[in-house]
Amino acid sequence: PGFTVEVVPELDSTNSELMRRARSGRADPVLLVAQRQTAGRGRLGRVWHAEAGTALTFSLGLPLAPADWSGLSLAVGVALAESLHPRIRLKWPNDLWLHGRKLAGILIETASTGAEPGGARYAVIGAGINLAPPSAEGLATPPAWLGELLPQVQPGQVLLQLAAPLVEALLLFERAGFAAFRARFDDRDALRGNAIVLSDGTAGTAAGTNEQGALLVHTAGAVKTVTSSEVSVRPA
Ligand code: BTN
Repeated sequence: PGFTVEVVPELDSTNSELMRRARSGRADPVLLVAQRQTAGRGRLGRVWHAEAGTALTFSLGLPLAPADWSGLSLAVGVALAESLHPRIRLKWPNDLWLHGRKLAGILIETASTGAEPGGARYAVIGAGINLAPPSAEGLATPPAWLGELLPQVQPGQVLLQLAAPLVEALLLFERAGFAAFRARFDDRDALRGNAIVLSDGTAGTAAGTNEQGALLVHTAGAVKTVTSSEVSVRPA
């Protein structure tokens, strides 16, 4: 399906803008790029900050009706990583990593527009990808940027590279769910086999994902299934 591409110099947040549009009944497929965000948002209510010109920040909005939404952020991560570079890894549930540092984040939100038939929602898939060295202020680990792999990288080129694979992945997800992405996620799983700590304090070893995209963690004597997107994970 076709989608409109819109590039604007400044917005509070591309996710916020598409969510506002959806709530007011505009549910057409659109790829919205902001050259600068003044109130970029991350997961778990965090702020996502990027200096102007250092990151590609965009959201893709489109109506989607998968039978099961679980694992969508992993499928998006797979599509982005595969379209960008073989060396990019994925950190459950939705970060792209390079050399053990965060390269990009994904924020997925959905809205009901009232117009769709049962089960369908307007999905807003937001991503922020560092292109140039970002400011590392207040971060324990300095972020990674795509220029490390692709010198002279340009936002427009990156967007062209990822847009079609991303839309394709969303349509595949709609038909086949996370099952169609599980092996591809495993290939790039940055945590697998590593000691990790969940935000609730649980320590264990990351052991891949289940068929719904939940994180499996081997803890003392048990396998814990981590489904909640409210949980954050860090290497121990
Ligand atoms: C995260 O790392 O927690 C997710 C970061 C997502 C940032 C992108 S930038 C484009 C889109 N608009 C936003 O406000 N957030 C996402």
